[in-house]
Formats: sequence, structure tokens, C-alpha cells
Amino acid sequence: MNGLLKFITCGSVDDGKSTLIGHMLYDAKLIFTDQEKALKLDSKVGSREGKIDYSLLLDGLMAEREQGITIDVAYRYFTTEKRSFIVADTPGHEEYTRNMAVGAAFADLAVILVDASQGVMIQTKRHARICSLMGIRHFVIAVNKMDLVNYSKERFDKIKKQIRILLAEFEYDSVEIIPVSATEGDNITKPSRSMVWYKGKILLEYLEEIKVRQKDGTGFLMPVQRVVRPNHAFRGFQGQIESGSIALGQEITVLPGKEKAKIGRILRGDQDVEKAFSGWPVTLCTDREVDISRGCVLCRGELPMTGNMFEAKILWMEDSHLVAGKNYLLKLGTKTIPAAVMAIRCRIDVNTGEEIPADEIFKNEIAECEISVGDTLVFDRFDNIQVLGSLILIDRVSHMTAACGVVENALNRSGNVIYHQMEITKEIRCQKLGQKSGVIWFTGLSGAGKSTLANELEKRLVAAGKHTMLLDGDNVRLGLNKNLGFKEQDRIENIRRISEVAKLMTEAGLIVLTASISPYASDRRKAREIIGDEFVEVYVSTSLEECEKRDVKGLYEKARRGEIPNFTGITSPYEVPVKPEIVINTEGRTLLECVDELYEKLLKFL
Ligand code: ADX
Repeated sequence: MNGLLKFITCGSVDDGKSTLIGHMLYDAKLIFTDQEKALKLDSKVGSREGKIDYSLLLDGLMAEREQGITIDVAYRYFTTEKRSFIVADTPGHEEYTRNMAVGAAFADLAVILVDASQGVMIQTKRHARICSLMGIRHFVIAVNKMDLVNYSKERFDKIKKQIRILLAEFEYDSVEIIPVSATEGDNITKPSRSMVWYKGKILLEYLEEIKVRQKDGTGFLMPVQRVVRPNHAFRGFQGQIESGSIALGQEITVLPGKEKAKIGRILRGDQDVEKAFSGWPVTLCTDREVDISRGCVLCRGELPMTGNMFEAKILWMEDSHLVAGKNYLLKLGTKTIPAAVMAIRCRIDVNTGEEIPADEIFKNEIAECEISVGDTLVFDRFDNIQVLGSLILIDRVSHMTAACGVVENALNRSGNVIYHQMEITKEIRCQKLGQKSGVIWFTGLSGAGKSTLANELEKRLVAAGKHTMLLDGDNVRLGLNKNLGFKEQDRIENIRRISEVAKLMTEAGLIVLTASISPYASDRRKAREIIGDEFVEVYVSTSLEECEKRDVKGLYEKARRGEIPNFTGITSPYEVPVKPEIVINTEGRTLLECVDELYEKLLKFL
């Protein structure tokens, strides 16, 4: 018996995908009698004039039957004498790209359907590209509906040539091109009597025999899922061995820290064993204390990469678009950490493969981008170690998967940069200045009173003997950030730079006041992460109506006339802080009253 084969079928609405799988199941006698009866009954009212409509077999999704299309990823399990299979059946239409990607991520092989009467179509290319992106290296091209082209060998040869040209673009380990008729059952589970000229393997036989490559490195590799510590005497590391094997006494390296230790015990369930192999879930104990937590990777032999920046190819799956600078959670292996898409290099046309310069990526589009993560991460190129090269990006608020993708290369920009420990520390500097440093982060609409309040507060602080610095949004934009405008990605970068500068200034021991609209909650959260505990968010809650009434700089009027694009509150959003440390409402109050209240509230933070 060959091992399990996980495969995906890709085809467009009318390519006959469901019929093909249905036929395989039917012929392999994989359905129960009552299902068979139902099938015959249903087919009477179906589209094949009483002949069995095999697509009806895949009845998991009612809507599919009602509308004649497949709408989600459906997994089917079946077993023949030679092999067990799981097949992911996904819809082929462009708007379902993400479903196909999800199915492809799980599969080792793709069966791509081509309609013999149509030949290779633009969607065939899209299907191959998505499968290739998600790491599939084994392809079967089922040239279907051969009955509609009179089982013509010439037609098949012509399509074969088109397929060879198409696949030349992709990396693959194997390709098999098989002429079939899903409705008639030719070359699906039985050789076709109508295509005696075809000497190759028939579909099911091929799927039963193919050996698929596992891309999981050469050495021992186990990402740690859990550290178990039932008592003082026992400390074990649980996970699944993704490649290689491990034996008692062998030395392992713990990444990312690179500490070494020897294996003291191996437990499979609650049984002690001497050796463990790829695919086993195990608990390992080391011969000495090492710092190991979830997300660490235990290795022996070839070591994966470590770093905090890499290039990735991702498929965007969210309704909202992606722009450079946006923050997400990244899940790779067993590790989940904050990450940012630092730059979008290009968009890849899913139909043609063309690389197109892009600032924004929309749902169902594929992008090449640079991703940076908040800590040292263990990863590798997807082609080298699959488990450490596939990733998802998760929205930090909704926790929905925003993208899936693969690591292409490490970016070693910061790989050789090592933090220099300074002898004069922030604490010493603060001590010299006789104060605790901090960042008072004003946020609110343009004209809310941020700069005015910050200015007045700074006067108060200086009068109280504090050492301060005010980073005013407009002023910073005239210097450091003069290359940035007001598009979403520019605002993200504006806030990132202000956060980093504010942090440097806190290291100098200063109390920093920043006054910028900072309209996006995710950027303010990132600022908080960069700055740490010393971050005090002050929301100046003046309403849009009031700001517009004041219109100190005359900008609202211009924005209303359509002269300023992306104006916050008018044509660009402002996300109200959910839990700011301080809220100040300036409406109907004097500046003095506001600053008094602010100063009072701030005392506990300084
Ligand atoms: S932020 O959104 O990136 O935080 P920032 O505070 O630096 O904005 O700059 C806002 C100031 O720039 C406003 O007070 C206003 O004077 C000016 N400005 C010019 N164009 C715009 C715009 N499209 N939206 C908001 N402010 C603008």
C-alpha cells in the first residue's frame, strides 16, 4: 500500500471536475447502495437525460447542486486497494482564488482539468500558478471531454504541446498529461476503448503509484508546540518531527538561540523510546536546562535560517487592501509574532504571471513583498523546508487570515547588524536629568487642538523643571518626513518614523510630546509597541463639526471643495482610540482648563 496522497482538483465551472471525482468514486465502488439509488433518481431530473450524472455524487454542498457550481473547498476521502486519498475540490472562478489556495496549501499534487474542446485557457494558467505558489510540484493535466473531440489523438497532441509551453514557466517535479472523458469514464479508472492510441497510465492508476516529494529538509527538525512541566523533575518539549530522526544521546541545536544540548529522553505517548522518526508526535527532554519555548525549532544536521526579514510571495485574501507598512500577526511553523509588510515589490498577474509595479494589493491578488518580524524567527525557503517556509498573515483585530504565502529568500539587511550595548544607558541619562522619560502621544482630527495643547503642556512641563521635546506633525513633515504625503502607506510610514524618533529621544532621557493625527489604530498600537510602557495616548476628542467650524488653517473648506485629496475626517478615515490613557474634550472650554485637566491626569504617568 502506498502512503496517503493529498491532491487538489482545479478546473473551471464547466470543465467537468466534480464529474471526474464522482466517476472515480463510483467506479472504485466507494459509494453506498442508498447513495447509488439517490444518484440514479437525481440524475433522472438532471441534465444528462437519465444517464448517471456523477457530479451529483459530490453532494456535500447543496448550493452547488442548485446553482451548478462548486462554492467552497470540499474534502473527500477515499481508499482503493493500493492507496488512500484525500481530494480537495475547489471552485475555479477567479473570485474563489483563495479557496483554491487553501486547498492547494494542503495538497501534494494537482489534477488540473483542461477542456479538450477549448484547449489551454487563461484560467488553466491561473490554476497552475496558484498551485505552484502554494508549493505543489506534481501535476496531472487531465484533458477532459475527449468524447466531444471524437477522441482525436491530433487534438490531444496539440493540447499537450500547449501544456508543455505553459508549464515551462513553473518549477515542478513531475507532470503527466492524460486524455480522459469524465462523463463516459474513459481513462479514469479503466482504459478507454475509444483511445487505444493512448499508451500511458490511466488517471487512478497514476495517482495510486506516483511518489511525491516531501520538501522538509534533510536533517532532524522539530518545531516546538508546547513545553510541558508537570513537576520540578520533568521538563519536556512537545511537537511533531517534521523531518529526519533523533536518537537518545544525540546533540541538537535549539534555534533561534543556537544553544546546544543532548537528548536525554524521547517519549512517544507515555512510552520511552530510543529513537523517533519523521511524522511522529513526541516529547523530548534534554540532558541539561536550555531556554526552549513554543516556536523554537530543535534541529540536527542542516540548520534552517534565522532572521527578522524575508521576501515572500503572498496571496491577499482580505476584503480590505494591503499597503506597505501595515501590521499583522504572522504565523509560521509553531510561532505567531507581530509582523509588518514593509514593502510591496510588485503584483503578479495571476493569469499571465507578469510582474506589475503596485502600491496596493487587493483581494485575490498575488504579491511579492518584504516582511519584517518583531523578533528573530526560524524560517527557510519554502522550496527547502516546507513547514518553515509557509506562512499566514492574520489581521490583528478580526483575527481573520489576511494572506497566505511562502518564503522566497532571507533579507540579510539586518542579519549582520548587531545591537551595541552602550555603557551610558537610558537610566543613567534619565538620572542625570532627574526625571522619568516618556512619550505623550496626542491623536485627533486636524484642528482638534493637539498642537496647541501639546505646546501649552510643554510650557508647563518645562516650568516644572522637566526636559522635553515636542514633535509636531506638521513640523516633522517639513523635514524628516518631507518625502511623505497623505496616502495610507505614507501616513503609516510617517507614524513609524515619529515613533522611532520618539523612542530615541526617550533613550536620551526626554519627555517627548508628539502631535500628529495618527488616524489608524494599528499604527498607534505599533507606536505603543515600539515605545513600550512609557507610552501615554491622549485622545483630543474634538468633534469633526467643531474642527470644521474652527478650520484654523482653512483646510476643511478646501477639502470640501475637493482640493485636498485624502483629507482626514472628510475623505480619509479617523479611527477613534478605544482605550486611550487620557481623553480631552476641548469643546466649549478654555485652553487653560484643558491643560489643567491634562496636567493633573498626566502626573501619575511621569
Ligand atoms: S498623519 O495623518 O500622518 O498623522 P500629520 O499629523 O502628520 O498627519 O499631519 C496632519 C497635518 O497635515 C494636518 O494638521 C494638516 O495641517 C495637514 N494636512 C495636509 N493635507 C492633509 C490631509 N490630506 N489630511 C490631513 N491633514 C492634512
